[in-house]
Parts: sequence; structure tokens; C-alpha cells
Amino acid sequence: MAAAGLRLLGVVWIFATLMPLGAAAAAAAGGHAAVAAVDGRRAVAATGEDFVCATLDWWPPDKCDYGTCAWGRAGLLNLDLSNKVFLNAIRAFSPLKLRLGGSLQDKVVYGTADLGRPCTPFVKNASQMLGFTQGCLPLRRWDELNAFFQKSGAKVVFGLNALNGRVPLPDGSMGGPWDYTNAASLIRYTAYKGYQIHGWELGNELSGSGVGTRIGAGQYAADVIALRRIVDDIYRSNPSKPLVLAPGGFFEPGWFTELIVKTTPNLLNVITHHIYNLGPGRDTHLIEKILDPSVLDGMISTFSNLQGILKSTGTSTVAWVGEAGGAYNSGHHLVTDAFVFSFWFLDQLGMSAKYDTKSYCRQSLIGGNYGLLNTTTFQPNPDYYSALLWHRLMGTKVLATTFTGTNKIRAYAHCARDSESLYC
Ligand SMILES: *[C@@H]1O[C@H](CO)[C@@H](O)[C@H](O)[C@H]1NC(C)=O
Ligand SMILES: *[C@@H]1O[C@H](CO)[C@@H](O)[C@H](O)[C@H]1NC(C)=O
Repeated sequence: MAAAGLRLLGVVWIFATLMPLGAAAAAAAGGHAAVAAVDGRRAVAATGEDFVCATLDWWPPDKCDYGTCAWGRAGLLNLDLSNKVFLNAIRAFSPLKLRLGGSLQDKVVYGTADLGRPCTPFVKNASQMLGFTQGCLPLRRWDELNAFFQKSGAKVVFGLNALNGRVPLPDGSMGGPWDYTNAASLIRYTAYKGYQIHGWELGNELSGSGVGTRIGAGQYAADVIALRRIVDDIYRSNPSKPLVLAPGGFFEPGWFTELIVKTTPNLLNVITHHIYNLGPGRDTHLIEKILDPSVLDGMISTFSNLQGILKSTGTSTVAWVGEAGGAYNSGHHLVTDAFVFSFWFLDQLGMSAKYDTKSYCRQSLIGGNYGLLNTTTFQPNPDYYSALLWHRLMGTKVLATTFTGTNKIRAYAHCARDSESLYC
């Protein structure tokens, strides 16, 4: 089985993921006692209030990987916002944090007055980066999305188009300052309409060596500071000021350190990184990887390295996993949308929390082969319940927990979400 929640002393929840292959039986048969130990004397880390988060992406129906087109109408421009199952799936979390973004986000323009050309959707074109032309978010659709988010009680983080106005540099990266005119118009419109936005995030997978293209950390820091000024200005008389997040990319120590140092101590609220540690979705050995403790442990260095950078620079910036789908190129049907994927997912939630990650966004809420919900029926996949259980049971305080006897059982303990005890 996957997730056993044990209530201890009324205040602590342990999430244990037990891998198959009779691991517990084997441990017992070998005569070794398997022992879970929780040190409840103090918290070793803390998550944010709404740790569990999920993503919505921009991919149009004709996004295909190796001949399968797994996105259907799950993209932000196409989602059926009148579906009751969909609405209730989000409402059940009250609130669910949603991060809107993904690969095409940097090619999205917004249909505000300054756009100066027709607001048209993405068009498939193999000779363009990521296989699609620029696409546009019409304000009418943005209104509909916000009405839906309000009704479903979602907390929304919106990823902005960090490639706008860039020019190619001789070293192959994109440079020049971010042209934020269009993004600032969208933010201004959103604030004017009174739509609640939890955070504005700059860019998607342009950090380090990038996906598709990259931007240097020094330039990126300058752009984050520009976004900070825009947000401070637009929300200056607003009691709830959105967070500023960046870069929504893969962790690279040098690049991330430079971004942190140049935005310290408080210009960047959240540094976001992405996780696809299982490789491409087409891999036929995904299940073996998901069930291999050494593969799962491969992420520890990233979490601990990033935690170390944040501590040593004395910044107030905190870390989130802004997008994690495990297997890239849309995952793998019957693996990343099946029960077995909870071994990866729950372990990721536990491990990231232990290294002080404040929020973890699963790619995706819907779309691709890794949705918490089925792309066509909106019915929950197994990981939907893993996410909901975690959200309802696990509090913010993370307790030091060890499990000895077999490395195929992994245990994580937090104070219970509804704990009122003095000790937890
Ligand atoms: C695809 O993009 C290329 C490069 O920008 C352009 O020259 C071409 O006309 C586009 N093709 C179509 C069918 O739009
Ligand atoms: C979604 O549900 C349909 C109908 O039950 C099923 O045929 C399909 O395989 C599911 N898709 C995924 C990606 O799980």
C-alpha cells in the first residue's frame, strides 16, 4: 500500500509510504525490528499554511508527445469552467493553491489595450521554440477564470511572460531587460477588478541552462526587482499585497545564489524550482524508478543545497517547488496518473517539507498524464486523494522522524493540522 496515517498522541500525523515487494514482511522475517521514531520535542522545519498546490498549464489540445496528445481541453484557454466535478474537486481543499504557468507561459501576451494587435491563440508551428507561436490571453477569458477561482476558493499564483522584449545574445541566451509593459497592464487590470492574486511569478524554466532558452541570473535579478516595483506600486493602498516569485526553473546552485544575493534581503518573496527527476515520460522503466529508494533520495541534495543557500545569505526569501510532474513531456499514462505514482508524490511532499519548502505544486491539477484529475472526465486519480489527505491532516510543523529496519518504508511526521496541543 501507499499511505498509512497513524494518529499518535492525538497531535502528530505520520505519513508512511510503504513500497510493495513485501518489504515489511521481509524486515520482520529477517528478525529485524522495524522502528519508526519521532522526536516531538521541537519542529525541525515548517511549511506554509497551504503547502499542497497544483498547477494549471497553457498547452493547447494539439500539444503532443511521441504521438500522444494528452492535454485535451485542460489548458487555461480551453478548460470547461462550468463543470461541477471540477469545481468541487478544488473546493474540497478550501483553499487549494493553484499555480498557473508552464512552458508556453513565456510566449503568452495579454489582451490589454496596450497590446496593439489582435489577441489570437497559440498556433502549432514546428519551427518555433516549444512548437507553438505566441498566444494571447483575452481579458474576457481572464475574467471567467477569476470568477471560477473565486467560486472554487483557489489561491492563485500567476506566471508572467519573462521573454517579452528580449533579444538573442551571442552566447545563445536571451538578454536585454524584460519588457514589462504588457504584464504591468495585466496586473493593473487585475487589481482594478478586485481579483485576488496570491502571487505573481516571473518566468518559466529560464534559469541555469534553461529549457528552450535561458537568461543570465544578473539580468533576471534586475527583472525581479522591476516586478517588485510594479507590484508595490499597483498594490500600494491594497491591504493584501501579492507575493513576488521567481524563477520557476531548474535548480542550479550558482544561478540561484546570484539571484538570491542580488534580490536580498526582501525583494523576492519566494524562489521557485521545478522537479522532473524521473526523466522523460516515454521511459519504460518509470515504475522501477518510482519504487527505487536511491532514485527518490536523488532529490535530497537539491533540497538541502537550496536550504543552505537561503540560510547562509540571510535573505527572507523562502523556497517553493513551483512545478513538479516527476516525468517530463507530459508524464506516462497508467504510471503518473496511477496509484503507483503516490510513492513518488507522497515521498516528495514529505522530503521537501523536511527541508523547509513552504509549498509544493504538483504538475498538474489537470492535463497531461500526470493530472490529479482525469483530463476528460474530471474524475479524481489516486494522487488527488493523496494530495487531499496530506492537506487535511498534515500541519505546518515538521518533526524529526527516522525509520530503521528497511529503506523501503519512509516515514514523515508533522504536527496535526488541527493540533491544539501545547507540545505541537
Ligand atoms: C512558422 O514559423 C516560421 C518561423 O517564424 C515562419 O516563417 C512560418 O511562416 C510559420 N509557419 C506557419 C505555417 O505559420
Ligand atoms: C480518463 O477517463 C477515461 C474514461 O474513464 C479513460 O478512458 C481514460 O483512460 C482516462 N484518462 C487518463 C489519462 O487517465
